[in-house]
Amino acid sequence: MNVAVFSTKRYDREFLEKAAGSRHRLRFYAPKLDLSTASLVAGCEGICVFVNDCLDEPVLAQLAQLGVKLVALRCAGFNNVDLAAAQRHGLTVARVPAYSPFAVAEHAVAMILALNRKIYRAYNRVREGNFALDGLLGFDLHGRTVGLIGTGKIGAVFARIMTGFGCRIVAFDPFENKECLELGVAYERLDSVLEQSDVISLHCPLTPENHHLINAAAIAGMKEGVMLINTSRGALIDTVAVVDALKRGRIGALGLDVYEEENELFFEDLSGRVLQDDVFMRLLTFPNVLITGHQAFFTREALEGIAATTMSSISEFEEFGTCANRVVQAS
Ligand code: NAI
Repeated sequence: MNVAVFSTKRYDREFLEKAAGSRHRLRFYAPKLDLSTASLVAGCEGICVFVNDCLDEPVLAQLAQLGVKLVALRCAGFNNVDLAAAQRHGLTVARVPAYSPFAVAEHAVAMILALNRKIYRAYNRVREGNFALDGLLGFDLHGRTVGLIGTGKIGAVFARIMTGFGCRIVAFDPFENKECLELGVAYERLDSVLEQSDVISLHCPLTPENHHLINAAAIAGMKEGVMLINTSRGALIDTVAVVDALKRGRIGALGLDVYEEENELFFEDLSGRVLQDDVFMRLLTFPNVLITGHQAFFTREALEGIAATTMSSISEFEEFGTCANRVVQAS
């Protein structure tokens, strides 16, 4: 199949080309998919897109008009796709439902450890010959309560790792995961999880129902000085409310790998530009905030898994007109 690949980086090309072999002809484009770039798909039956490509109704309508049949997301989340519009325009949407859940879970743990023990501050201090310990005080994770929102594939791996540290895990998820129950994870109501936890980590998808799940009211119900980690999707958090809570010390530490306005920032080198997002810039001024640019998935194993699954979905669709990783809109 001819496939137009959007938002391509050097590493995408390397892994996708290897997985495609000679079966599919991939055309790589650096720009994001939006209405201004959609015409690049001419001659392609498939497209391959990532987390910040725009797949709203106008874009999907244009893709369909140009002969696209398959939208293959090379990620797990599909909050950037208007699934109802895709269906109306006869487009099949596929995603990569699972690829190294370890990559994301381990990144969340890395953020917890770095924030708790102030590793990023210590690194800078020592390089400048400053060996003072003031301001670097952490706490034992052992014996702490960790709140888990979302106990799917990534949440379960995260729970296993944190159990290894000797943490007590309380979780909220409408569906209980047997693996988590076996680990001793206690399922509770969301407000109860927020109230008890020393560390809260988000591992659920972004849906219209849970937009700004962590808002001012939710923060008011959390422990004073809680550590909040988001490696899922930016809009699960109301960033303005979180900035306010950081200023008041209600949130004691914040680790973000995702940000609600990230599509204007992440995955690009903007180091020579003046960033215009004042909320993001305010976040960068806090000594207890650690931000990474949507890199939680970024391990060799995850990229191999993503490329292999994406290409096998394209092959399956080419052969059977559908594929197992098709995303169906919940009714
Ligand atoms: P999964 O589908 O295995 O698990 C998601 C779980 O969240 C399910 O158990 C579901 O019942 C639960 N859930 C749904 N709505 C919820 C709500 N409102 N409150 C609590 N739980 C809820 O998904 P997986 O593979 O564990 O991934 C989780 C999320 O991680 C993805 O949706 C994606 O947004 C994010 N992600 C981030 C990456 C990164 O690089 N930062 C990479 C891959 C995924």
